[in-house]
Amino acid sequence: MKAIAIVPGTTQVSLVDRPEPKLNAPDEIKLRVLRVGICGTDREEVAGGRADAPPGQKELVIGHEMFGQVVEVGAGVKSARPGDLGCFTVRRGCGHCPFCLADRSDLCSSGDYTERGIRKRDGYETEFVVDQEKYFVKVPSDMSSLGVLAEPMSVSEKAIDEALAVQQARLGISGPAADWVKGKVALVAGLGPIGLLGAIALLLRGAKVLGLDVVDKNTLRPKLLEQFGGTYVDGRETQPAALAPSFGQIDMIFEATGVARVEFNLLGALGINGVYVLTGIPGGDRPLQLDGGALMRQLVLKNQVMIGSVNAARQHFEMGIADLGRAQAKWGSAVAQLITHAVPYNHFADVLEQHPANEIKAVIEWSKLG
Ligand code: BGC
Repeated sequence: MKAIAIVPGTTQVSLVDRPEPKLNAPDEIKLRVLRVGICGTDREEVAGGRADAPPGQKELVIGHEMFGQVVEVGAGVKSARPGDLGCFTVRRGCGHCPFCLADRSDLCSSGDYTERGIRKRDGYETEFVVDQEKYFVKVPSDMSSLGVLAEPMSVSEKAIDEALAVQQARLGISGPAADWVKGKVALVAGLGPIGLLGAIALLLRGAKVLGLDVVDKNTLRPKLLEQFGGTYVDGRETQPAALAPSFGQIDMIFEATGVARVEFNLLGALGINGVYVLTGIPGGDRPLQLDGGALMRQLVLKNQVMIGSVNAARQHFEMGIADLGRAQAKWGSAVAQLITHAVPYNHFADVLEQHPANEIKAVIEWSKLG
């Protein structure tokens, strides 16, 4: 079977032949890969950045945002049948820290975790994959156009979940954590897939969402945001600190730009008792000059919290798929418009090595739904 592999640390990326995986244990599931999304991490990997091959291997099969169809299940599998749609999660636990032992490898405290397609485990840019049932998350059959968004949505869901849990704990809010954000102003910075999916999750929770980017307002990202009920802010015209006077106190910032200069600049927009959650992973930015004293003073005097959030647990995939379902019911086919580019696997270079300006989510297609 075909797979897209890189040699980590180089810019070598090619279509390779790999043996088709077989079920080896009763709790395993085999999926035929339908589509795999491309994100900044994949592009960093093919550019020679952050990636590790499995022990003893020179190459790493890339891809972690997967969506597939079950073709075979082991005798002990209860939650999936051939024909079902779904995806496998990304991270695999270290097997010894308390978080991984409690199935929260997204919080792994030893640093010995692995990630499919990124760190020491082959990924999903291939025709078939096998993994354990506990890593499989089902996608309803009427959501086949959105299934490939489950992984990026899980990243947005975890970040929001963490931010809301922190606010609930420290501000003494009773009832569901999500209630805190209802009616509050949330600023989403960077309207790529993570930002737009974060905006969707926040809008579904009743927040007033401002979405900041640096593109013309008649382009797809702002248009989709406004269709979902958010308000677009062009960062080239409006400084973050000028937002509160026009829109009211900003209680939450959801960052998805991955640009360190922008990330720090945004802090100036955060209101009293506000929470700021970061999801972007800056790569190779030039050193920054900052007024560190002013930033620290602001954090202290305004009781603000800044949180970094990476990866996602199974529960965030489930929350994400549920929210994508609600979004589909509310906004119809607009949600699937986030997928702007789809190419067959043998044209991988068109999306991996290029980044069209009008792209939101690009995906590689491995097979059609059976
Ligand atoms: C992936 C996460 C992963 C992170 C760090 C992101 O692109 O979506 O699942 O944990 O990269 O490797």
